[in-house]
Amino acid sequence: MYGKFEKIYQLAKPFLDTRDNDIHTRIAYSFACRLLEAEGGNEDVVLPAIILHDVGWKSVPEELHLKAFGPGENDMIINRVHEVEGAKTARRILEEVNHDPSLTEEIVAIILEHDSRREALSVNDAIVKDSDKLWRFSKEALEIDPNRFGIPPAIHAKWLKLQIEDWFLTETAKKIAREEQRLRTLSFGIKSD
Ligand SMILES: [Fe+2]
Ligand SMILES: [Fe+2]
Repeated sequence: MYGKFEKIYQLAKPFLDTRDNDIHTRIAYSFACRLLEAEGGNEDVVLPAIILHDVGWKSVPEELHLKAFGPGENDMIINRVHEVEGAKTARRILEEVNHDPSLTEEIVAIILEHDSRREALSVNDAIVKDSDKLWRFSKEALEIDPNRFGIPPAIHAKWLKLQIEDWFLTETAKKIAREEQRLRTLSFGIKSD
């Protein structure tokens, strides 16, 4: 599934077996492929960045995860740990596979602030941020997230819909989010108003 980036994924895999990050990474990766096609960007930056962006959660104790992400107030100090530790692990992995060093710098910079910086530094950065959030609109996330946040799926889906304009940086991601929202509305029987 990860094509020429399979080696990077295999090295990332031991860091992704927490917080459903394996499935999150796979879904975000497929959104990133769609955004690359529509928005341009460099796949040698975007795809390794999306594979590696959440490896840092492995450094955060699992009992603290739910304080650091999701609807409502988040503990941004805990959240920051996953960015900083993730950037370090990503650099090690990229060096191990001899990824182009100039691209490695860009990838590490993207991972280091993928949650804490709202504005994008480049189209590559925007695609990573948007793919990460598009996951939340997927069928898989709609099965996982309401459960882990203790929110009814219909309420969660309505909350997501309200975030589309605010969250997404590219027009393509807004469009995909609306499409996904429509599909979820049909499959979960959630009213779209
Ligand atoms: Fe993250
Ligand atoms: Fe993520």
